[in-house]
Amino acid sequence: MNTKTITNICCIGAGYVGGPTMAVIAEKCPHVKVTVVDLNEQRIADWNDTDLDKLPIYEPGLADVVAESRDRNLFFSTDVDQAIDEAEMIFISVNTPTKTYGVGKGMAADLKYIELCARQIARVSKDDKIIVEKSTLPVRTAEALRTILTSTGNGNKFQILSSPEFLAEGTAVQDLHAPDRVLIGGEESIEGQSAIQSLVDVYANWVPRENIVTTRVWSSELSKLTANAFLAQRVSSINAISALCERTGADVDEVAHAIGRDSRIGAKFLKSSVGFGGSCFQKDILNLVYLCRHFNLPEVADYWEQVIIMNDYQKHRFAKNVIDTLFNTVTGKKIAFLGWAFKKDTNDTRETAALYVADELLQDRAEIHVYDPKVTEEQIFADLEYLQNHRIGKYVKQGEEMDMDEIRNLVTVHNDPYTAMHSAHAISILTEWDEFKTYDWQKVYNEMLKPAFVFDGRNITSKEELKEIGFEVYNIGKGK
Ligand code: UDX
Ligand code: UDX
Repeated sequence: MNTKTITNICCIGAGYVGGPTMAVIAEKCPHVKVTVVDLNEQRIADWNDTDLDKLPIYEPGLADVVAESRDRNLFFSTDVDQAIDEAEMIFISVNTPTKTYGVGKGMAADLKYIELCARQIARVSKDDKIIVEKSTLPVRTAEALRTILTSTGNGNKFQILSSPEFLAEGTAVQDLHAPDRVLIGGEESIEGQSAIQSLVDVYANWVPRENIVTTRVWSSELSKLTANAFLAQRVSSINAISALCERTGADVDEVAHAIGRDSRIGAKFLKSSVGFGGSCFQKDILNLVYLCRHFNLPEVADYWEQVIIMNDYQKHRFAKNVIDTLFNTVTGKKIAFLGWAFKKDTNDTRETAALYVADELLQDRAEIHVYDPKVTEEQIFADLEYLQNHRIGKYVKQGEEMDMDEIRNLVTVHNDPYTAMHSAHAISILTEWDEFKTYDWQKVYNEMLKPAFVFDGRNITSKEELKEIGFEVYNIGKGK
């Protein structure tokens, strides 16, 4: 087998996946030139900013990794053609959002960016290349890529690998440095196996060989969707139990701890919350559901769809509890939001539960005062605006479109948590940022309207301590 040693890598898409993944490959493989390209000029300028606080993505430890390799063997550029031309291996890491129009609307993945990449690679390439799908894609996308590359190319040979990324945001650098496993899927032919080996050799610079799993392409593609579906299912399962705990007086954290001690179940990913968010879980499950329907497996599709329905219900349940508790109306009441990001240690807000809770409260014309340590005001308003035009999902659909001027009157974004909570009727904790635990809750209480309510959607505060101060406290999955 004639395995090519890779010395030049290009990655198309400088987002949450492409940026950190390439930064770590460059850090661990100083002999490989890595160029990350993106159509978005501002994003590339931010990646190149000498002030590392301006990197477009906030991830603990990322700035150090970028600082070490940037302009040594890690480059960020908008010259896509040149980077493709020079590379032996091209990672595709562009986004694959859920379709918002046409066939498969609201369910299927939109592959238009992937297709554009394939056409560009076919047009520009002057020699054989290995293409690596990093984006999460529906099963059999590799085949579509191959068709485009071989029918529109200049006679060059392309090997398509699937190597989905399993990093989680907020721990991306840690996950990339020490992954549970790296997955590489490729063709069973000699050429396919040789391409797999080329990528194995890249990762083997820092990942133990036994943690690099190789499969056929389709298994790899499906494994990514399945992993995310299983993870999301755990969250929906514990959230379903949280509703029962609230009715019965059991404590969901105690239940999670007790079942997690069973090594067959395991302790991780059993944290009940206001609902999962992030760019992947919902999109990937919708995608899986769409695939199952496409292959005429309606029972399987319905089974997985229930994970999303339960998640929508959890967000709705939380918002409804706030309204019910505040004497059935939040109109004109000041509600402080601690956190907007979909989880701690990231500035990412895609599919964040906070947005959906905000929407339900805004429908009742609440005044929302948001504080998040990393999310910008611009982003929060962009999220609210996007939602108005994309009312997909059971409860969001029930809401009516709101005018952005009205939303701007009702929503205020703060840089200081204490001003956000000052004179508030209630506080909702939507993200589990560590700093929320360290606040001077006595001071917060003194400055709030009474009765002072806390709705902890992440169970990060101490119910006993807050009650002692005088707060009325509502947690997820804990009786009164
Ligand atoms: C995305 C997908 O959401 C995920 O499913 C997949 O696994 C990896 O890619 P992420 O990196 O978080 O994840 O997306 P995003 O931060 O939106 O980055 C994608 C980048 O690709 C953007 O910066 C966008 O400008 C760029 N892009 C998109 C291109 O450069 N060219 C295109 O044609 C389309
Ligand atoms: C996820 C997968 O973990 C990762 O492997 C894949 O590559 C991308 O999708 P990510 O979305 O970054 O990563 O974050 P993750 O830590 O999985 O959290 C997703 C959501 O679930 C967050 O909103 C989080 O708050 C929530 N969650 C997670 C819970 O509510 N409870 C838990 O126990 C775990």
